[in-house]
Amino acid sequence: MNTPLRIDVALDQHSYPIHIGPGLLDHTALWRDHLRGVHVLLVSDTNVAPLYAQRLHAGLDGRHWSTLILPAGEPAKTLANVQQVYEALSALGANRDACVIALGGGVIGDLSGFAAASWMRGIDFLPIPTTLLAMVDASVGGKTGVNLPSGKNLVGAFHQPCGVLIDTDTLATLPEREYRAGLAEVVKYGAIFATDFMDWLAKHSPALQARDPQALTEAIARSCRFKAAIVAQDPTEQGQRALLNFGHSFAHALETASGYGHLLHGEAVAIGMLQAARLSTRLGLARLEDEQRLGRLLAALHLPLQPPPGLNAETLLQHMRLDKKNQRGKLRLILWRGVGQVEIVANVEPAAILQTLDDLP
Ligand code: NAD
Ligand code: GLY
Repeated sequence: MNTPLRIDVALDQHSYPIHIGPGLLDHTALWRDHLRGVHVLLVSDTNVAPLYAQRLHAGLDGRHWSTLILPAGEPAKTLANVQQVYEALSALGANRDACVIALGGGVIGDLSGFAAASWMRGIDFLPIPTTLLAMVDASVGGKTGVNLPSGKNLVGAFHQPCGVLIDTDTLATLPEREYRAGLAEVVKYGAIFATDFMDWLAKHSPALQARDPQALTEAIARSCRFKAAIVAQDPTEQGQRALLNFGHSFAHALETASGYGHLLHGEAVAIGMLQAARLSTRLGLARLEDEQRLGRLLAALHLPLQPPPGLNAETLLQHMRLDKKNQRGKLRLILWRGVGQVEIVANVEPAAILQTLDDLP
């Protein structure tokens, strides 16, 4: 087996590695090192567990461990399922040195990470992401949590993992729509940080659509480097980390309003980024060309550019008012001055947002 790529998330208190490569599920020595105690809870979902859970069993030999399999998809990201994780930890007799392994996408990662953050006030957490979206974003950086009917990710905690294991081979079984949704979060790094990454993505969009291993590994590694750098700078989102939420105020409102699971998170992010770009153009912050460039790349990757029909602009705005970035009752959004120049904009006029939302089909 080739030596896996390693990217470190450098934090004052607790740095950790992201390991990237094919076949890493079987690289037992690599991930077993992250288990400190005897108790291990493996959390996965009904799609992922039958495909990959057994590959981890050899590495758990000698531990006291069990598996919890939850329903798949966004509607499962609930407090009730966090409770299921607590019950499983309880049945296992898990102590403070226990570890929760999250094998799956961002849903399993976010909810079991939150359970790990709160069980006995915090135990180890090892994400093994199996979606592109979770590899490039959700599993890195320690944001954990669940949805409420009133809004996305409203309950959660910052809880950094002890390591991240990315087995790129697992993407072979990811359904096409889920795979594309993950590409939206990859595009997000280009939009926020680097025009050259946008160019690279545009050039490699056929290879990425074909899941070419080399292009994919490069896209994942570059994305993880962007994320690791900003998390190291601002682990608990006191400032710059908020830039990673480009398009997310719109996206979260779209996901909540359309009902969790209808619009995939990455799809909502694609639409949300375009809406943020459109609002930036409307406010005179950015040129139309940048918005068009983003739209072309998203279209080349077959991502949706428009929200589903039938959503009401006022309702979406109401959801945006419950966004975590808002301060003193005023809307704060991540907008841009063009590709690679993203910034936090406070006191955005609701009327301008409504006009942008009214561009709905
Ligand atoms: P997901 O976890 O629902 O996974 C998508 C679907 O693919 C599920 O049905 C799953 O069972 C299936 N699946 C996963 N891996 C598979 C594989 N290898 N083969 C076959 N099927 C597979 O969705 P997601 O897109 O991974 O994550 C979305 C969630 O991540 C959202 O809740 C979002 O809010 C969250 N998120 C969190 C962060 C963060 O920083 N914590 C960042 C971005 C997104
Ligand atoms: N996904 C945004 C963040 O981790 O901050």
